[in-house]
Amino acid sequence: MNGHERQRYALVGTGNRGTTMWGRDLLAGWRQEVDLVAICDTNPLRAERARAMIKSNAPIYTSIEETLAAARPELVIVCTRDSNHDDVIVAALEAGADVITEKPMTTSMDKIRRIRDAERRTGRRIDVSFNYRYAPTAAKLKSLLMAGEIGTLTSVDFHWYLNNQHGADYFRRWHAYVKNSGSLFVHKATHHFDLLNWYIGADPVDVAAFGELRQYGRNGPFRGPRCRDCSHAEECDYFFDMSADEFLDQLYEDPSEIDGYVRDGCVYREDIDIFDTMSATIRYQNAVTASYSLNAFMPIEGHAIAFNGTRGRIELRQFEKQPWPTPDHDEILLVRSFDGGVERIKVPHAGGGHFGGDDLMRSMIFRDGADPLGQRADSRAGAMSVMTGLAALQSATTGRMVKLSELGEIDHP
Ligand SMILES: NC(=O)c1ccc[n+]([C@@H]2O[C@H](COP(=O)([O-])OP(=O)(O)OC[C@H]3O[C@@H](n4cnc5c(N)ncnc54)[C@H](O)[C@@H]3O)[C@@H](O)[C@H]2O)c1
Repeated sequence: MNGHERQRYALVGTGNRGTTMWGRDLLAGWRQEVDLVAICDTNPLRAERARAMIKSNAPIYTSIEETLAAARPELVIVCTRDSNHDDVIVAALEAGADVITEKPMTTSMDKIRRIRDAERRTGRRIDVSFNYRYAPTAAKLKSLLMAGEIGTLTSVDFHWYLNNQHGADYFRRWHAYVKNSGSLFVHKATHHFDLLNWYIGADPVDVAAFGELRQYGRNGPFRGPRCRDCSHAEECDYFFDMSADEFLDQLYEDPSEIDGYVRDGCVYREDIDIFDTMSATIRYQNAVTASYSLNAFMPIEGHAIAFNGTRGRIELRQFEKQPWPTPDHDEILLVRSFDGGVERIKVPHAGGGHFGGDDLMRSMIFRDGADPLGQRADSRAGAMSVMTGLAALQSATTGRMVKLSELGEIDHP
């Protein structure tokens, strides 16, 4: 990007993610690079609250069409709910804007093709917000693999744990329904499948998966419409007092009167149709296999990953939250086969969200940094991780292995 002229951007979707990552924090760190020229949300009160938090005076619009016509942004940043990302992305591309979309890029094959068609037709650019690729530990793992430190990569063990606060949050809101989020195999695992695709450096081919709902939804001993005023507040493990969080309360409580979108919905709603316990085995084009799991109600938050190769193994257990202090660094174990010993590689955590990934991604995108590890993710990467999730969801619901090729091509011919 031209270092002298600030890129004129519109922020679409002013929930927590839009307001912080792509509003307040983007302007705080990259004001020389970007100028916020429009704020758009279907809920005008939430947009107003967000604008005050962002400390901006950009005009507010309630539809993407109005935003594009009035503000003519060069860049549109998409932070709406997953299932309507495609509407905003396609309208923005058609109006000649580039796009940064939050993950998952979208939630179905038809929508993937719709987005890719519009990108090809308009010649504009889409970036997908895969911030985990940028965390220093992920970058170190990728560089060890690229340097061939464990010979040829043969398999990956990857297990992700969401704790019973963060994990529960997906069951309080729209994410709890497949039609909105594509399930956590798409909404959440898109990050993890993207990391796998990127680390492994190949496309996934086959997926065999299982999924269960074991804690939330119909498993609950009781239920109510939402936590605020719930008669079970005292006895519920998942009671969430949003009024104790001024930021969330401002952004979501009064605005909920306009659109009925409550931020503290009951995690035990009987119609919840996503899994909270998932596992998948994936086979890649280069014969690498991966064993993956995602659990959404653990007493810990973090992940464990190991890369197995012909000449060694790389192990990492990343601690995020647990009933003991979080270390200020990660430790990667590089274990070389055939008496090659072990190397303990300390990687200090970087500041900011997602172990530093959020800041490093914004710098890469807005300051045009060199990209030797291929961290910047395009619509193809966005599509491949969504497809992995769709295949996993299909496998878990049908009980058979799914080939990604069965889902069809990511581009119309
Ligand atoms: N990269 C990451 O690590 C990360 C982290 C959190 C969230 N996210 C993603 O960011 C997105 C937003 O998440 P959130 O938690 O802020 O969600 P949210 O539901 O709190 O906010 C979404 C906002 O979009 C608005 N909206 C919905 N449809 C719209 C439309 N058609 N036009 C304009 N506005 C519309 C809603 O009114 C709401 O204010 C999601 O796709 C989520 O997956 C990514």
